[in-house]
Amino acid sequence: MSDFEPRIIAFCCQYCAYSAADMAGSMRLQYPPNVEVVLIPCTGRFDMLFALKAFEGGADGVYVAGCLEGTCHFLDGNFRAKQRVNYLRKELATLGVEEDRLRMYNLSASQGPRFVEFANEFTDLIREMGPSPFKVKSQAA
Ligand code: FES
Repeated sequence: MSDFEPRIIAFCCQYCAYSAADMAGSMRLQYPPNVEVVLIPCTGRFDMLFALKAFEGGADGVYVAGCLEGTCHFLDGNFRAKQRVNYLRKELATLGVEEDRLRMYNLSASQGPRFVEFANEFTDLIREMGPSPFKVKSQAA
């Protein structure tokens, strides 16, 4: 288990998290290569199926990164995303899957270092948890 490297999918809003990731790149800050960034126009566009498909496709952890609360360019997209993430976290728990395999983060476009912090924090967390139970179950079948 010690050589386990998680696969993480990050659904990032183009106005904040994606721009912050860009800024991190410009600042030559590095985040773990485990994190695969998926651009979405706003976290309000995040659908629970995106996360389920990601898990089904082999992700060990998924996070949604949106604008700071109150600054969504589509007004309440990040609040709607937060509700969906919280709902799905509870559903994961009922399936016996650690709810922390799904999280939501908020940041602004100017927070490149914060983006890196979140990516590191989440990668460490999932690395500690080990492979996704979805993955383990599908390998056993
Ligand atoms: Fe960034 Fe809505 S535009 S979360």
